[in-house]
Amino acid sequence: MTRSEELFEEAKRYLVGGVNSPVRAMKPYPFFTARGEGSKLYDVDGNSYIDYCLAYGPLILGHAHPEVVRAVGEQLERGTAYGTPTELELEFAKRIVEAVPCAEMVRFVNTGTEATMAAIRLARGVTGRKKIVKFEGAFHGAHDYVLVKAGSGATTHGVPTSAGIPEETTRNTLLAPFNDEAAIEKLFKEQGDEIAAIILEPVIGNAGCILPEEGYLKFLREVTSEAGAMLIFDEVITGFRLCLGGAQEYYGVTPDIATLGKIAGGGLPIGVVAASREVMEHFSPLGRVYQAGTFNGNPLSMSAGLATLRVLERGDVYSRLEELGRRIRRGLEEVSQDAGFETRVYGIASMFQMYFTAEEVRDYASALRADAELFLRYQREMLRRGVFLPPSQYECNFLSYAHGEEEVDYTLEKAEEALRALK
Ligand SMILES: Cc1ncc(COP(=O)(O)O)c(C=O)c1O
Repeated sequence: MTRSEELFEEAKRYLVGGVNSPVRAMKPYPFFTARGEGSKLYDVDGNSYIDYCLAYGPLILGHAHPEVVRAVGEQLERGTAYGTPTELELEFAKRIVEAVPCAEMVRFVNTGTEATMAAIRLARGVTGRKKIVKFEGAFHGAHDYVLVKAGSGATTHGVPTSAGIPEETTRNTLLAPFNDEAAIEKLFKEQGDEIAAIILEPVIGNAGCILPEEGYLKFLREVTSEAGAMLIFDEVITGFRLCLGGAQEYYGVTPDIATLGKIAGGGLPIGVVAASREVMEHFSPLGRVYQAGTFNGNPLSMSAGLATLRVLERGDVYSRLEELGRRIRRGLEEVSQDAGFETRVYGIASMFQMYFTAEEVRDYASALRADAELFLRYQREMLRRGVFLPPSQYECNFLSYAHGEEEVDYTLEKAEEALRALK
């Protein structure tokens, strides 16, 4: 028995399914991590893995980047929570406002879940309307407004629509297939004056990696503007991932409200709501939309986020990640086809996923038709060969600044072996 297996057996007695978040469940058992460094995770049995999960997205600089470690260490000495404003919050807020097109003001919260919950409440408060539109297969955190046909672990574990949520709540969550203009037009024709917002992942990273088709984000911008509804880009994954300004800069479409998380916290917990001054001032203490949190803007997350942002602003990070992203996507297409599999590889910048399917993946339904079981077998073969991919067809893989061509080429070599082993 490995140490991970032993720990897992014990953990199952104290933690539901032995884990603290469903996405971490892995068959037959998850490896227990001892430490992370650069592009790698090291487990308690002494194995190392090139990490493409990267904590599900935050670690764009890799594990334990020295500048982040230093910043957090220095802050730790000065205290971890004050319950008062700090200069750190101000400096970080200014940098986000500079980088993110829709942002004139921000509110720091603690998770992406909190950020989308607050953003939706804000949109409802501003418009005085109840309904929101979300896309099938998108995941916006584990709260009641959005756990309907949700992707990520909710889909992986067979509960895209969660139990325990009053029907009165989800009645106000309207669903649409991604990349389908007619479906949105129909919803707005029938219920446009009741819709507070469309919330979307501009690139869906919670059903694999699904890209918006040409003009689709612009279309959503126009439909919402016309109907007096708000457009919310949930950039918890894409924020600081595609480029400094996130998907809104990358695609040139500015939402009314954006939510950030993951990378913004430099590996520590964070969520951010960003919008124009006019919209943001609906939040208390100025406005009537209540949002509060003991750990909002906590100095550790602020220091880690700022240190990360400083590295990201340095210039070569995104071009390097783009190049690596292209390399791995091209390589996966080649090796999977050479090994005789029908696959589709999608991605953008440093995001990617390989679907075991012959058809184009453009929405949740087509993602669900991919062979998720085969993907899991492939994931396990990769793990055995020292490469950690998120254990689900419905997650996205990430690259970090700590990954290089060497890691990518090694990964492609192992992918070819793993795929041949599946034949
Ligand atoms: C797009 C998106 N929004 C929101 C969330 C929720 O963020 P958190 O897990 O920090 O609550 C996630 C988490 O994976 C996400 O991918």
